[in-house]
Amino acid sequence: MNSPESAGEAAVKAPTREPLLAVTGLAKHFPVTKGLLKRQVGAVKAVDGVSFEVFKGETLGLVGESGCGKTTTGRLITRLVEPTGGSVVFEGHDITHMSQSRIRPLRRDMQMIFQDPYSSLNPRHTVGAIVGAPFRIQGIKTEHGIKKAVQELLALVGLNPEHYNRYPHEFSGGQRQRIGIARTLALKPKLIVADEPVSALDVSIQAQVVNLLEDLQNELDLTYVVIAHDLSVVRHISDRVAVMYLGKIMELADRRDLYETPRHPYTTALLSAVPIPDTRGRGSRTRVRLQGDVPSPLNPPAACRFSTRCWKADEICRTVEPPLVELAPRHQVACHFPENTPAVQPG
Ligand SMILES: Nc1ncnc2c1ncn2[C@@H]1O[C@H](COP(=O)(O)OP(=O)(O)OP(=O)(O)O)[C@@H](O)[C@H]1O
Ligand code: SF4
Ligand SMILES: [Mg+2]
Repeated sequence: MNSPESAGEAAVKAPTREPLLAVTGLAKHFPVTKGLLKRQVGAVKAVDGVSFEVFKGETLGLVGESGCGKTTTGRLITRLVEPTGGSVVFEGHDITHMSQSRIRPLRRDMQMIFQDPYSSLNPRHTVGAIVGAPFRIQGIKTEHGIKKAVQELLALVGLNPEHYNRYPHEFSGGQRQRIGIARTLALKPKLIVADEPVSALDVSIQAQVVNLLEDLQNELDLTYVVIAHDLSVVRHISDRVAVMYLGKIMELADRRDLYETPRHPYTTALLSAVPIPDTRGRGSRTRVRLQGDVPSPLNPPAACRFSTRCWKADEICRTVEPPLVELAPRHQVACHFPENTPAVQPG
């Protein structure tokens, strides 16, 4: 059960408006081929039936171990890869199979920030050329010229506008990620998918970049999907969090519900790995250590995909796939024997 306080918070935050992005049953299966004839012998089910919505102005955190399909989900949302199944609706437009020429104008509205601030910036181009490129590519007229527009963007992300003519190698990792963010903001996107935006940075500067993203969101009315390995990175920035495992969503809930009352065993295990700053919290949570490796998405376990590593797994978990259902208001879980939940009938 929710505490009255958290139920109240959920009621206040409950969005009544149309989602900016709605993803339904989204799937991406990469074919695996063999021999000269490239006969298909299997498929990597990188994303395998994922559904969620993102509302204007909110941040959805997308979390899970390496290889669970986070980046592929981000690339599907922004239509950088073609879905195998399901649908992507952006601002009411079904963009699932929209041709590249029709999708071009929408590209401005959906931007992706990448993990690596080193390889994503061309070392031979000045910061001015990099941040100004989107204006040139999209043929956008700026009121006082591209240079002025770029300098405004540099100032917005906390860089010195006078450093317009410098090259990427003259900046630190954190500053380069700021350059990447400035480039992303050039076209005033509505949705930004930030794929592990701070994981390549020193821990000491990760918080600064997360804070910058938060400030920019408030100032520019941005909507984010923030991808991370680790639940601690998205804790402060997310309104809601989705936990992925082997191409599927295991749990999706308001931030506070997910961290305080995790219901999926996998989320519990991920949270156990997160250092808990509050010593009272440390005492109250049992540590669960995840055993073994993530199975291959080429041949995922039948029924519940977490069953090979779950300490609660029973026969039904290996035979009947648990559907993602709302076990509490705005709290979806895919598990036959959820945690922190009065006993429910399996299946
Ligand atoms: N172009 C591709 N062709 C074949 N398989 C792919 C391709 N892109 C991704 N995959 C596979 O799909 C699965 C999901 O990959 P993805 O990059 O989406 O995971 P991720 O959650 O972002 O992982 P990480 O945390 O390591 O970035 C992995 O098994 C990966 O090897
Ligand atoms: S359905 Fe079963 S195996 Fe899967 S997470 Fe729940 S208890 Fe564990
Ligand atoms: Mg990734």
